[in-house]
Amino acid sequence: MGLNILVIGSGGREHAIAQKFLQSSKVEKVFCAKGNAGMKKDGIVSVDIAEDDHQALIRFAKENNVDWTFVGPEVPLINGIVDEFTNAGLLAFGPKKAAALIEGSKEFAKELMNTYNIPTASYQTFTDFEQAKAYVLTQPTPIVIKADGLAAGKGVVVAETVEEAIDTLKDMLEECVLGQSGAKVVIEEFLCGEEFSLLAFVRGQEVYPMVPSQDHKRVFEQELGPNTGGMGAYAPVPQVSDEMIEEVLKTILKPAVQGLAAQGRAFSGVLYAGVILTDTGIKVIEFNARFGDPETQVVLQRLESDFAQIIDDLLKDKQPDIRWKQDGFSLGVVVAANGYPGKYTKEVSLPDFSEINKGHVYYAGVKEKSGKLVSDGGRVYLVEASGKTLKEAQKSVYSILENCDTSGTFYRKDIGFKGIKE
Ligand code: AMP
Ligand code: GLY
Repeated sequence: MGLNILVIGSGGREHAIAQKFLQSSKVEKVFCAKGNAGMKKDGIVSVDIAEDDHQALIRFAKENNVDWTFVGPEVPLINGIVDEFTNAGLLAFGPKKAAALIEGSKEFAKELMNTYNIPTASYQTFTDFEQAKAYVLTQPTPIVIKADGLAAGKGVVVAETVEEAIDTLKDMLEECVLGQSGAKVVIEEFLCGEEFSLLAFVRGQEVYPMVPSQDHKRVFEQELGPNTGGMGAYAPVPQVSDEMIEEVLKTILKPAVQGLAAQGRAFSGVLYAGVILTDTGIKVIEFNARFGDPETQVVLQRLESDFAQIIDDLLKDKQPDIRWKQDGFSLGVVVAANGYPGKYTKEVSLPDFSEINKGHVYYAGVKEKSGKLVSDGGRVYLVEASGKTLKEAQKSVYSILENCDTSGTFYRKDIGFKGIKE
């Protein structure tokens, strides 16, 4: 009998994770809670249990002989789902609550970086509006204001002017627009440079880096418009050298993992470093305690060895066999409902992708209506393709998208532009 796996989450990231597990000959069945209606085409079984209903998920795992559970999103991790599964005698992949705090509290992450000399922007933390305002008045602009807690992508504001900074502080500290998440803020120095992400599997003190990837956070081409959950990504990133990866490992990922362990918060799972290449070296923009979305949809394409076996080994504290493809690139473009990241159009009909002969479609905000897939969220799906060059991968994705009816939705036409020099 092969492995039965439960993936927790419902987006494109979880679609890609579940599909990659199903490619393993060792895997029998992959459940996804709560999954989405688009995952069915790949043989993933959606389970109608919310990601915050930990006890119902535990019951499901027991009743369905689940060998282990993979947790995709940050919210259940930060709320201690791995601790609860472990206490129930079940294996779950991801950091425990104490370690997931590296994503759950920006102040905690900054203090960790300070303690272990991990390069990052200078900062101050505030809960009092007047004190925060007085500090901003002494600082240059742009200046970055971050809600301490999770805010579903709305917690970071790069303020271009003092007025914008003060308005943001008022919103978070006085008007409480982000609730408890924004009751404390980190005010941070603005860093300038190109960003990329380096994710790593972590087992005890061992850190196994993945290939670098680059997300495109702004909604419009050329990095204009508001921040989103991510409009596209590619991997690897040609402008990121092996030396840079080595530097991130040595100065960021390893000290963070060792620091967490030294504080009794040993991390296991996937640690995500969002970094920026400044004139004075590589610095951390953020840590996440999980895979990124949409980075996962491209990074996992680059994995050559068996993903399910890797997670199985990491969970059982064995040395994993992690090998990455040496040639080629993967690129993914997010298709979003018109209006996203603001108020967006609902129930848009989706194209039929059953005919595409290369690439993948990973579904996110979708549901079934009268037997057909329609949109049910801001980011609806991502189209991925691989190629020998980044340009080739990009061409393949856009030729798929140009040949289907994407009315009611939009996508950026320049995903990958920083990596393509011609
Ligand atoms: P985060 O949610 O922490 O990933 O932040 C969202 C985006 O805000 C990042 O991808 C950066 O583009 C930008 N950002 C965050 N912190 C800084 C900083 N200190 N300097 C410049 N840009 C930043
Ligand atoms: N793509 C950014 C993130 O997953 O946080």
